[in-house]
Amino acid sequence: MLSLKRLIITQFKNYSYSDFEFSENIVGISGPNGIGKTNILDAIYYCCLTKSYFSSTEQLNIKFNFEGFRLEGNFNLNNNDKTVVCIYRNQKKEISLNGNIYEKVSSHIGLLPAVMITPGDISLINEGSEIRRRFLDALISQINKEYLISLLKYNRLIQQRNSLLKSWNVNADAELLDVIDEQLLKPAEYIFNERALFLKNIIPIIQEVHSQIASGEAIVDIRYSSQLSNENFKDLLRQSRNKDLQLQRTTTGVHKDDLLFYLQEGTFKNIASQGQKKSLLFALKLAEYKYILSQKDACILLLDDVFEKLDEQRIENLMKIVCSGKKGQVFITDTHSERLTKAISSVTKNFQLVELGNISE
Ligand SMILES: Nc1ncnc2c1ncn2[C@@H]1O[C@H](COP(=O)(O)OP(=O)(O)OP(=O)(O)O)[C@@H](O)[C@H]1O
Ligand SMILES: [Mg+2]
Repeated sequence: MLSLKRLIITQFKNYSYSDFEFSENIVGISGPNGIGKTNILDAIYYCCLTKSYFSSTEQLNIKFNFEGFRLEGNFNLNNNDKTVVCIYRNQKKEISLNGNIYEKVSSHIGLLPAVMITPGDISLINEGSEIRRRFLDALISQINKEYLISLLKYNRLIQQRNSLLKSWNVNADAELLDVIDEQLLKPAEYIFNERALFLKNIIPIIQEVHSQIASGEAIVDIRYSSQLSNENFKDLLRQSRNKDLQLQRTTTGVHKDDLLFYLQEGTFKNIASQGQKKSLLFALKLAEYKYILSQKDACILLLDDVFEKLDEQRIENLMKIVCSGKKGQVFITDTHSERLTKAISSVTKNFQLVELGNISE
């Protein structure tokens, strides 16, 4: 069980100094455009995962004209207090837990799991395969450290291979290419097998959540697509060597994998409506949330502006799913406090509403 009890935001984005107390496991945050709703979610995400969901440039997270920011989150994890302080100043980041500064910031990741869903995440459905691989990699890495190690090794080898292909010397480099190809086999096969296994487990969860949100709609067919499904990687590398030399890059491997969505035999992104796409996006992310809960018994769910483009029935279905868990805490933002209150109170009476006014100055 994980929940955030108090959040103190100093000089982070539009906040000068704000202190929020959270008393319930379901928290609605309402207020007009630009008041700082999304920024609160991002501050929570930061305390859990040591970075902003939106910007990898820390400078952009500091309130304009200030020198640094500080975030403090008082969490309760299985009845233990966990106070996280994140300080960024002089281009340096310092994260501490209960007063002890981490030597490696990455050691904090995994202790306080969090999943964010924002309108911009629709790119997961609409855009190229890279973004879906990143989603998949981030998720599997959170639960399998060996996967992350293989992935880093694979990516490094592909980089080496591509630079060799670019500076190709026909007399000297063939042997080196053989060596790299040989080294690629193990991490590539591990990544392929782990992705296949993980997707086999999570695709039914995605489909189940999807049918709960989009009740009555056709089931979305989700398939893992990889060149390694039909042929072994060694043969693939051999077959594509000439082409790779010509194009000066590696054209085969798990860095070409994708997750494909179909709706009644058509490609989902081409035929689905905006609301249908949004429902699938929620299904993907909520499956992630459920999966993490099942592995770690704790997760914070951050839902930013999720009601736009969803009809009332889907909003109610969504709320039933997100508010039913007892082990996580859910934060939901919306510009309309009545819509938010109505949506949450349709499933539970125990919730807190934070209405943002002119608090940020
Ligand atoms: N580094 C920064 N310094 C000062 N202000 C910032 C900084 N970064 C963002 N802002 C301001 O924060 C505000 C946006 O806050 P946020 O995105 O949390 O709003 P919101 O309440 O979610 O709005 P909406 O309803 O439109 O989604 C904007 O006015 C933006 O200019
Ligand atoms: Mg917002």
